[in-house]
Parts: sequence; C-alpha cells; structure tokens
Amino acid sequence: IAHGKVERAPAWWVGARGALLQHAQAGTPRYVYDLATVRERARGLLAVPAIDRCFYAIKANPNAAVLRAIVGEGFGLECVSQAELDHVFATVPNLSPQRVLFTPSFAPRREYEAAFARGVTVTLDNVEALQRWPEVFRDRTLWLRLDLGHGEGHHEKVKTGGVAAKFGLPVARFDAFLAEARKLNVRISGLHAHLGSGIDDPRHWRGVYAELAGLADSVGTIETIDIGGGLPIPYTPDAQPFDLAAWRDGLDEIKAAYPRYGLVIEPGRYLVAESGVLLLGVTQVVEKDGVRRVGGDAGMNALMRPAMYEAYHGIHNLSRLDDGAGVAFDVVGPICESGDVLGRSRLLPAATSEGDVLLVADAGAYGMAMANTYNLRALPAEDVIG
Ligand code: LLP
Repeated sequence: IAHGKVERAPAWWVGARGALLQHAQAGTPRYVYDLATVRERARGLLAVPAIDRCFYAIKANPNAAVLRAIVGEGFGLECVSQAELDHVFATVPNLSPQRVLFTPSFAPRREYEAAFARGVTVTLDNVEALQRWPEVFRDRTLWLRLDLGHGEGHHEKVKTGGVAAKFGLPVARFDAFLAEARKLNVRISGLHAHLGSGIDDPRHWRGVYAELAGLADSVGTIETIDIGGGLPIPYTPDAQPFDLAAWRDGLDEIKAAYPRYGLVIEPGRYLVAESGVLLLGVTQVVEKDGVRRVGGDAGMNALMRPAMYEAYHGIHNLSRLDDGAGVAFDVVGPICESGDVLGRSRLLPAATSEGDVLLVADAGAYGMAMANTYNLRALPAEDVIG
C-alpha cells in the first residue's frame, strides 16, 4: 500500500485565538490544553484494529482533565511512580486496576508493594529485583521489559534501549530471568519494550512486535505484547505528520503473522503534544550586538525541552497574529542560564513589545510535566478548553 503526503490541518489554536488571549489575561505563564484535540488523537489510535488495548503514558501530561478525557475514550493509563499511581486513582472516578500499568525504573521496593496492593499490572526489567526481594514477587504475575539492544528517538537523551540505557533486561539474560522467576513461581504474562520517544519510522513498532513475539513463543505463558510508546508529532514547519496509515498497516501485517498475543501500546506524546500551548507574557525586548531578543515571563523553567534536547517548538505572537512576521528574534526566558532560550532566530512581528502574548506551540507533552521552580519562579497555571 502506498502512502502519500498527509496534509497538515491548521492548528486548533488559530481559531481559538480570542479565547486564548482571554485566558492569558488571567495570568501568564499558562498552559492551555484543547481536549477536543486530545480526544481526536485518542480515537485515531483506538481505531487501529490490530491493537487490543491502549494505555496513556501519563508522564507526558498528568493534568486531571486530560486524564479523564483520555480514559473516557477507552484508554488505560501507564504509570511510573507511586505518586502517579496515587494520582490516577484519585483523579479518575471508578478506575479499574485492570486499566493501569506500572512500569517504573529503579523504583524502591515499597512502590512495587504498593502497586501489587492496588492490583495493577506490574512490569519488571531486571533479575536483581527478584533476587533481592523474593517475598515481594513470589507467586505474582508480571510483565517483563526487555532491552532489544538498540535505542531510537528524537535525541540521545530519550533513547531507552542499548548498552548506554538503564532500562530493560538484555535479551541475553532472558533465560536467566525465566529460571529465577520459576523458582519464585512468578508467571510472566506479558513482554514489553519501549525503545525511545519521538520515533519517526512507522515500521519501528511492527519490528518490536516481531522481536517480542519471537521470544514469547518460547515462554508459553505470554498473553500480551506491549510495544511501548514513542509515536512522534511534527514539531517543525516542514515536518510531516506521523504516517498513521503506514503504522496501522505494519501492525496489521505483523499481528496476522503472530495472532496469539494481545497487542498493547503506551503512547504519551502523540495524544497530548499538539493539544497544548504555552502562553507567555512579553517582558522586555532587547537588542544586543545585532541580536534581537524577546523575553517571555517563563523559559526553561516552564518548558525544558528546547534547553534539554534542542527541541523545536513553533513560537507566535498571539497578540499580533495578523501582523505577519518579518524580524528574527531569539525568544528567551527570565532564568539565569545562557541555555534559557526557547527558540533562536524566530520570525516575529517587528512591533513585538512588552505585554504581548507569545504562544509556544505543541507544548502539551513533557511541558508542564517537566516544569520546575528554578530561580524560585512560580509554576505555570493550567487551563483546558474544548
Ligand atoms: N512507555 C515508557 C516505558 C516510557 O518510558 C515512555 C516515555 C512512554 C511509554 C511514552 O513515550 P512517548 O509516547 O511519549 O514518546 N521528555 C522527553 C520524552 C521522554 C520520554 C520518557 N518515556 C521529551 O520531552 O521529548
């Protein structure tokens, strides 16, 4: 099946400009999430026939209204800490533990105990935990996270496979893990791999399923294969939207080859990134040595992604959207670090000035979730619309 170029629809926030400017009047910095966009992305994934169950990786954006919208569409939730577990059960009414995964990394013993007490599905990724805490795991049913030996993703820091990564049991230790599990009467009912975040190649996930299914056949107790998250979104103006049709076809094919296993995904970014904008108030506009800088009332404290991964986010002057954008500005924040830059050489209206509202696009994933209070700056506010 050939897949052509997918047209990008205009972002939701273009039409919601008036409402967003009103939200900004209540104070900036402020994240605003459009729940209609979240629901639409969730439905797109739920409609893929090969997928049996979808879990949302709440680390991307644990906002309560966002969680309820996603669960309302039929998603389960993937948590990585006891606080995330407590949060989802407190936030989503009548949440069944069967709809919750616990996939922590180097978590303390008590968090595994708490997860078992809640009755959620626990994924383990090392043999040492079984050896050290046999009484925690004895007679349990677990999923096993494997390191398939390579990482993928938009930046080195988000690759979660391969020797440099702390995640996952190397495939070479698979048999040793199974032997240890047998000693404790631990049943392995699921295999999991998540190789990274922001993976552009739609064939990646079918490959992961094939590798895990090949291993699962030898175990005999595997019911579920979890191929992780990592679906990308188009951040830059020239980026193509993720080819969901090619992704779906790949999963259909591989599911037909290994029909025995329930296929699970656990995306975060794909559901929420495009739903969120960060609104900033312009503080100062300064020219220094030929570089024009526009300052927002938050920077890397509200949105770490540019500083941490050199990530690109579109930046627009919401107050002067119709002015056209002709002058290159570096968009910076108020934090005392030279890395506090949200975007370099961005074209913005020449008249950009104090009090204007800047909009940082595609900030719904790993934005507020990673915000901090460095320099004792307050955390951004959050609103939802839609
Ligand atoms: N499952 C596991 C086990 C994960 O570790 C993650 C993300 C996901 C699912 C969801 O991945 P997603 O679908 O969102 O790519 N802060 C970085 C991304 C870190 C991702 C961490 N793990 C960023 O802003 O790009």
